[in-house]
This record gives sequence, structure tokens and C-alpha cells, in this order.
Amino acid sequence: MKQITFALAKGRLAEKAMGILKDLGITCKEMEGDTRKLLFTSDDGNYRFFLSKASDVPTYVDHGVADIGIVGKDTILEENREVYEVLDLGFGKCMMTVAGEPSKSVLLESGQLIRVATKYPMIAKKYFDQTGRSVEIIKLHGSVELGPIVGLSDVIVDIVESGKTLKENGLVVLEEIEPLSARCIVNSASFKVKHQEINTLIKAIEARLGE
Ligand code: PRP
Repeated sequence: MKQITFALAKGRLAEKAMGILKDLGITCKEMEGDTRKLLFTSDDGNYRFFLSKASDVPTYVDHGVADIGIVGKDTILEENREVYEVLDLGFGKCMMTVAGEPSKSVLLESGQLIRVATKYPMIAKKYFDQTGRSVEIIKLHGSVELGPIVGLSDVIVDIVESGKTLKENGLVVLEEIEPLSARCIVNSASFKVKHQEINTLIKAIEARLGE
């Protein structure tokens, strides 16, 4: 078979994905244990895996150096790359939201300029444009909930999973933008050239998820 290369968002998504592949008999001893390596080959030599920062996964897949990527829908939307999204893996479920102090719901309806702190400037801009509101986007790289607390922004656009971070910081979900989860993306050329291998694999993953 033709070798298939995966780009995996390092962390929980990669661990979950490797668990599913293991169930399908695709194992990778090199990746087990504490390692700083970034590129691995499966025990049977049929697959390669890179572990990258989530936001780089669509880039590797778009450029065709990875055939398949496993990454959150939030990253896919934000990066907006030319890749095929072929499967919803159903794990890593969360919600893209507008959140802030409860009193900010008035501002959201007021027609006034809204200051939005976010790790997702593209998603935030698109959402507020579509809903006909003007915003100033302030890009942050993490701990976005600080934005409204310290007065940098009125609201945030961010993912909410358990809701714990919002709750502990006195914030609430004001608007839901879109449900998210881990997705499987494929490079368009790979999809043609390695069609059989990729199709068989996607079907097997889908069947495993449905069990
Ligand atoms: C994410 C997200 C929220 C939090 C939501 O941040 O940006 O802050 O998780 O999860 P919860 O609803 O279960 O509390 P992450 O942990 O990735 O860290 P970061 O803020 O440094 O990006």
C-alpha cells in the first residue's frame, strides 16, 4: 500500500486519534512513553505521524506533506485552508461562543462598537459581520477570559467545553456561534492519488466510532 502521513494536533486529540487507530491494528511503539520526537512511523511502516501545534495541522494538509489531518473544527474554521473535511470524529466536543459578563448582553444588541478579545479573529469577525454588528477584534493567544475581567475587551469569542473557566471568572455564554468537535481533513490531491488507502481507512474509523 501507499504510505499515509497524518498530521495530528498534539495533546488530547492526538492521544484519542492514536487510540482509535490502535483499535484498528495501527500501532506506533515509537510514540509511546515520554518522547520529544515529532515524527513517527507505525510499526508496520505503512503510516507516518507528525505531532504539530493544532493551528499548523491544516497548513501541513493543504501543502500535501500530510495526507490526513486530525484537528478541531475551531482550527479548521479559523485557518480556512483548501482541505476536504471528511469525517466528524465526535470527540473533543465544545461550543464556539460569545461570552462575557451578563450585563454585556445589552451592548451586543445596542448597535455600538463591541470590543472582542479572541484567539479566533477570523471566526469572530465573520460572525459579527454576518450578524450586522461592528467590532474591534483584539487578538490574544490564550487565557482569553482575562480580556473582559481586566477591561481589555467587552466580550470574548472562545470555545466553551465544561464551562468551568467562564464560571470561575464570573462570565457567561451570551451567544452560541457553532458546535465544534474533532474532524478528519484530507489533502485534495492525496484523496485522488491514495483514494483506496484513504477511503478504506476513513470507513474503518467511521465504523469504529459507530460501535
Ligand atoms: C480553552 C478555552 C477556554 C477553556 C474552556 O483554553 O480557550 O479558556 O479551554 O474550557 P472549559 O469550558 O472546560 O473551562 P485552553 O485550556 O486551551 O487554554 P488557553 O486559554 O491557554 O488557550
